[in-house]
Amino acid sequence: MVKNVILFASGNGSNVAAILSHCKNISDIHFPVIVTNNPKAGVIQLAKENGIDVLLINKAIFDSAVFLDTLERYQPSLLVLAGFLWRVPAYLIEAFPKQIINIHPALLPKYGGKGMYGHHVHEAVIANAEKQSGITIHMVNKEYDEGTILLQKKVDITPTDTAQTLASKVLALEHEWYVQVIRNLLQV
Ligand code: GAR
Repeated sequence: MVKNVILFASGNGSNVAAILSHCKNISDIHFPVIVTNNPKAGVIQLAKENGIDVLLINKAIFDSAVFLDTLERYQPSLLVLAGFLWRVPAYLIEAFPKQIINIHPALLPKYGGKGMYGHHVHEAVIANAEKQSGITIHMVNKEYDEGTILLQKKVDITPTDTAQTLASKVLALEHEWYVQVIRNLLQV
């Protein structure tokens, strides 16, 4: 049976690109729509190239339960946050229990929470002279970055690493592992 996955992204969209490219030939996964809050998000172009609808939302839409009707029309098995920066409202978490996942570019519970996203995370990790960082893929609950952890992968930090080089190492892990977790959860 085909499983519908709704992707949410706010930024460059490299994770979305990796997921779409990996799943191109998997007929049991369908991506009916990509949701973004950013009219300049890289996923808008990606969606066009892949023939996927885009839903451009604002905070008022996201926080209103009417948005639930829109999402339910796609009958999603999974909601995948891939660099999506807004906290998910309670009504969505209640409507899709254990069906919303997020990827975070550090080893939670360290370097998580409000304001900890993208380069801010890597800058804090480097400033604290950590020896390792990595990725965390987790279920989404009502608090930022606090849902059940599904997978973590580590990467070593060398003395010459900067926030930027660390970001590239971490993104490479994200691109490799997020799709594996998605496939595991969907069993496809
Ligand atoms: C990724 O590193 C992702 O882990 C991070 O934003 C980046 C998005 O990159 N997410 C967070 O920081 C969430 N707190 P992308 O737009 O190229 O996929």
